[in-house]
Amino acid sequence: MGRIQAGVAVGVVLLSGVYAQSCNTTTLQASTPSSGNVVLKDFSYCGGTLNTSAYINNLAYNKKVTLYYTNAQGQATPLTSIGLGYDSSVSSSNYELWTSSTPVYIDGIQQLLNITYDVVDNNQVYSQQLNQTVVASGKPAPTLPSPPKPYATPKGFSDDITNFLDNAAGSQVRASFTKMFRNINPAVAGAVDGVVVAGRSGPSFESHVTDYEYDWVRDSSLTMEVVQQLYDASSKAGATTQYQNALFKYAAARATEQNDPNLQTGLGEPKFYLNNTIFEKPWGRPQNDGPATAAITLMEFADSYLKKGGNTTAVLQKIYDSMNYPKTAPLKKDLLFVASNWTSSSFDLWEEESSDHFYTRMVQRKALVLGAKFAKRFNDSQTASTLQSAADAISSTMSQFWDVGRQIVLYEYGPVLLGKSSYLDAAVPLGVIHGYAGDGVYSYTNEQLLSTMVRYTTSFINVYPIFNKTQKDSSGQTLGVPIGRYPEDVYNGSATEANGGNPWYLTTAAVSQYLYAASAEFTSAGKLTVTNTSKSFFDYFAPDAGVNIGQTYQHNSTQFNSVIDSVNGWGDAFMRTIKYYTPSDQSLTEEFDRDNGTPQGCADLTWSYASILTSAFQRAKTRNNKKFVQGLANLGYTENS
Ligand SMILES: *[C@@H]1O[C@H](CO)[C@@H](O)[C@H](O)[C@H]1NC(C)=O
Ligand SMILES: *[C@@H]1O[C@H](CO)[C@@H](O)[C@H](O)[C@H]1NC(C)=O
Ligand SMILES: *[C@@H]1O[C@H](CO)[C@@H](O)[C@H](O)[C@H]1NC(C)=O
Ligand SMILES: *[C@@H]1O[C@H](CO)[C@@H](O)[C@H](O)[C@H]1NC(C)=O
Ligand SMILES: *[C@@H]1O[C@H](CO)[C@@H](O)[C@H](O)[C@H]1NC(C)=O
Ligand SMILES: *[C@@H]1O[C@H](CO)[C@@H](O)[C@H](O)[C@H]1NC(C)=O
Ligand SMILES: *[C@@H]1O[C@H](CO)[C@@H](O)[C@H](O)[C@H]1NC(C)=O
Ligand SMILES: *[C@@H]1O[C@H](CO)[C@@H](O)[C@H](O)[C@H]1NC(C)=O
Ligand SMILES: *[C@@H]1O[C@H](CO)[C@@H](O)[C@H](O)[C@H]1NC(C)=O
Ligand SMILES: *[C@@H]1O[C@H](CO)[C@@H](O)[C@H](O)[C@H]1NC(C)=O
Ligand SMILES: *[C@@H]1O[C@H](CO)[C@@H](O)[C@H](O)[C@H]1NC(C)=O
Ligand SMILES: *[C@@H]1O[C@H](CO)[C@@H](O)[C@H](O)[C@H]1NC(C)=O
Repeated sequence: MGRIQAGVAVGVVLLSGVYAQSCNTTTLQASTPSSGNVVLKDFSYCGGTLNTSAYINNLAYNKKVTLYYTNAQGQATPLTSIGLGYDSSVSSSNYELWTSSTPVYIDGIQQLLNITYDVVDNNQVYSQQLNQTVVASGKPAPTLPSPPKPYATPKGFSDDITNFLDNAAGSQVRASFTKMFRNINPAVAGAVDGVVVAGRSGPSFESHVTDYEYDWVRDSSLTMEVVQQLYDASSKAGATTQYQNALFKYAAARATEQNDPNLQTGLGEPKFYLNNTIFEKPWGRPQNDGPATAAITLMEFADSYLKKGGNTTAVLQKIYDSMNYPKTAPLKKDLLFVASNWTSSSFDLWEEESSDHFYTRMVQRKALVLGAKFAKRFNDSQTASTLQSAADAISSTMSQFWDVGRQIVLYEYGPVLLGKSSYLDAAVPLGVIHGYAGDGVYSYTNEQLLSTMVRYTTSFINVYPIFNKTQKDSSGQTLGVPIGRYPEDVYNGSATEANGGNPWYLTTAAVSQYLYAASAEFTSAGKLTVTNTSKSFFDYFAPDAGVNIGQTYQHNSTQFNSVIDSVNGWGDAFMRTIKYYTPSDQSLTEEFDRDNGTPQGCADLTWSYASILTSAFQRAKTRNNKKFVQGLANLGYTENS
């Protein structure tokens, strides 16, 4: 345990300018300490931003340093802590300097409580008690800005996107369909049945580090869910059999993964080689969304299979009953894992941060809600009740993610990580797309999610130079804001660099899919009500509807129709951005360059193709085009040999 070494000194940094304001920095430790493994050097709270720096004794490679404080109400919550990051080494000592700079004005701050140093490699934890009252200096803390005014008012579904997303030969949907199937049971040396290759950037890829030629549990389950949708829709025997075989192979491969003798974090193990043995090297593990989405895909498959005349025995032996058929049936094991492990923190869908994640909770919740019904249907009442209890327990925690101060659903309930102080992330729309259980809990038109969507999508306006340059296509039609994973992203597709984060195809497609789905949900509800919380959504995405807080608009009223028209128009505008930045060969990488829009990162990312298909499926559904998915499904596909 460290102790504060020196008396408190206060230094004043004068900033120049007409409205010069001074920042007070409180120094607790003026020179290199002689003892203590974690010693706070100084801190300031200036203009709403808390800066800290600390001496950290370099005891091992993997270290985690966290500062705990109390908010304006004097409370310590999972949000009132900050991760510090390595800054520099301290010459002629074993210390390193770790720092943080975080806007904390929304939660406010009263006191620094303690700084804790977790030497991850050694399993040792050190801390220093601080009990320092924080006094604000500098400019007054800002208040939460309002979302911007809309830069365009697109309306209705457009022909260019109808053609782009058509199921006819030559469309992007057809290309995505073919290119997605090329990555399922891929013809890659060493690949076994049932695996999906995440992308086509192997060891020769730029950095040699970001090699995507693996089977990721997440990516595979979300891809195979698309195959399941095709299977469900298919009315042509040959094609139906193809999808069914692919899905049974996938189920078997998932069971193989569960039985790998070298799992390091149980079923939350994130990735496997293409021979379907565990990737054993250091990685962000566990990722506990994978078992949930694998389970969702297989439950949906079992339902479709039975509906198409499949037999119960096959479902038990090849999908559900892991207890009696552990080598071949993965579903029950994944469901029980989710039920008993959902409270544990795990790495997020971008594999970057261990915390309690909205996306992970949503897909876990959906798996459990569907799982309880599924187990009941198979007369497994004990499992049904285990899953139902866990589902109820998750449901009761979901409100944690709403942050009234920020007016958003937080992507994670925990401290600012990797400088993501906006707390905005594609993980929220993706959590709804993949985790909405159809029971009214966090559905597309939830007022909190609508508010989040405005702040999330507009957060990229000042981030990507391509948007500043190009807001319309050559016919003058509106391009939606290019959408990335999160505004603070610095990953450029192969490494991290300052201002390196790019828009991604799959996150831009997710926004279009979300808007198409929200439109359909308003329509099926037959009315919409504007609340204080959701008003910003209508102001941005449907300003011409002129709706007011507290009013309900019935289906077919002028305002209602105007909202629907505008939301559909924006869905197409975001898809048009994808169209605009898709190369002529119709292949999709992971991302496109923030400066010039050229494709970047992993080639042929399977999830990019899947995201085009699911958005197209939702668009067709919203347009009441019931034959769209079937038309595509009935084509069948060329199997890889
Ligand atoms: C806080 O840190 C930021 C980022 O390093 C820096 O720009 C700013 O000047 C710091 N403020 C003070 C008061 O030291
Ligand atoms: C630091 O403060 C947090 C928040 O109050 C508390 O949960 C934690 O136990 C404290 N750690 C130490 C080592 O005092
Ligand atoms: C923390 O500081 C406050 C005010 O300076 C004081 O009243 C309190 O006793 C201190 N608590 C501890 C645990 O030192
Ligand atoms: C800086 O801190 C000192 C001592 O706490 C205080 O007297 C002074 O007003 C502060 N200056 C500003 C600009 O906040
Ligand atoms: C699976 O592939 C990996 C990577 O190529 C290799 O290291 C491992 O030995 C293979 N395992 C088996 C059982 O073939
Ligand atoms: C059920 O399906 C399995 C696997 O496809 C098959 O072997 C079995 O004969 C079927 N049983 C019945 C009763 O149809
Ligand atoms: C929950 O996770 C732990 C750690 O991976 C594992 O040991 C345990 O078996 C899991 N629970 C279930 C039901 O799988
Ligand atoms: C569940 O039990 C009911 C009533 O005994 C029976 O009709 C049904 O076939 C059983 N379902 C399954 C999947 O075994
Ligand atoms: C767009 O670029 C212009 C000129 O380079 C610049 O003045 C303006 O601030 C930029 N706007 C945005 C939103 O980035
Ligand atoms: C990504 O960042 C790395 C590290 O800065 C750099 O070497 C590489 O050229 C960048 N890649 C692209 C495509 O910009
Ligand atoms: C809406 O919320 C804002 C800020 O939270 C508040 O100032 C305003 O009074 C609220 N309006 C209504 C109609 O509730
Ligand atoms: C809305 O208008 C359409 C077209 O006029 C009509 O078919 C539909 O029944 C109306 N729906 C309601 C709920 O009034």
